[in-house]
Amino acid sequence: MSENLITKTTVWAMEIVGRYVKPGDTVIDGTMGNGHDTLALAKLVGPEGRVIAFDIQPMALENTKALLEAEGMKDHPGIHLILDSNANVKNYVEPGEDGIAAILFNLGYLPGGDKTVTTTKEETLRAVSDAVERVKPGGLVAAVLYSGHEQGAEEKQALLDWAKELPAKAFHVAYISMWNQKKCPPEILLITRK
Ligand SMILES: C[S@@+](CC[C@H](N)C(=O)[O-])C[C@H]1O[C@@H](n2cnc3c(N)ncnc32)[C@H](O)[C@@H]1O
Repeated sequence: MSENLITKTTVWAMEIVGRYVKPGDTVIDGTMGNGHDTLALAKLVGPEGRVIAFDIQPMALENTKALLEAEGMKDHPGIHLILDSNANVKNYVEPGEDGIAAILFNLGYLPGGDKTVTTTKEETLRAVSDAVERVKPGGLVAAVLYSGHEQGAEEKQALLDWAKELPAKAFHVAYISMWNQKKCPPEILLITRK
């Protein structure tokens, strides 16, 4: 293993997501950003699979397109880049529609972009609660949480409070926290549907 997963939270999250995804699957990237997760998901699902990726900023779509092109994935027929809020996933994916294997949210702001445009508590709660309805049984919803800025701290708390109340008969919820770090390091929330 080349990466130290405990210090590279986003890599750790993708490593876990990878356990739930196989070639040919459909997955959702709830926060496209600069496209690193979209690219990694596209590699996991392969040429027969589908990645539906959302962002509210045109710059995210441009950066993601550029990354996919640089990686030779521009013509992948199953990658759909959507300029819309992840809270509107329901307009694109019906509950239970061909079984979404995994849905990933890497919350916060666009690295290298406008730091005032971040995911918000309200939109993210809508998006993640919709996501748990759309992921197939045995599938995974994963969120990387950033509490180092005010909105991120509120968003994290709202998500944790909501996830704690998910019925244990229908969902398993796990929360990965970097226990001894002082500066609000990223954390991971994981939800799987039974
Ligand atoms: C931390 S970045 C994502 C990083 C990305 N996954 C990557 O691999 O580069 C968070 C992204 O969420 C986007 N975002 C904010 N609110 C959103 C919303 N309601 N729906 C979808 N994306 C949103 C931001 O524009 C930003 O690009």
